[in-house]
Amino acid sequence: MKVTVHRKAHFNAAHRLNNKNWSEEKNDKIFGLCNNPNYHGHNYELIVSVKGEIDPETGYVIDMKILKDIIYEEVELPFDHKNLNLDVEEFKNLNPTAENIVVVIWQKIKKRLDKDFDLEITLYETPRNFVTFNGK
Ligand code: NI
Repeated sequence: MKVTVHRKAHFNAAHRLNNKNWSEEKNDKIFGLCNNPNYHGHNYELIVSVKGEIDPETGYVIDMKILKDIIYEEVELPFDHKNLNLDVEEFKNLNPTAENIVVVIWQKIKKRLDKDFDLEITLYETPRNFVTFNGK
């Protein structure tokens, strides 16, 4: 019997969508305002979903305090109030789209969890635009 627990988190960050291999004209055409050379910001909202068996001793799937600390260390601390392109190693050569950000977040949190857990990340870039990734 598996139960999924969810923890919400938040970070503010700046980014620029750009493909270095393309001309400025093509970058403007494909990415529009998101290609602004001086960057722009988003209020990112995150839902971290962990699915697993209920531990018969604690009654928990995972201690939410532990999950909260993992999200803080892996996402909030390195991403909040940062320029994703310039400040975050993972995006030095990876376009920081919501799709790529959600995969990076999944990889960072996955390596901190017990292997038996299923992990899914939901990332809102705006209240209406969001992406999900579960490792598959
Ligand atoms: Ni953007």
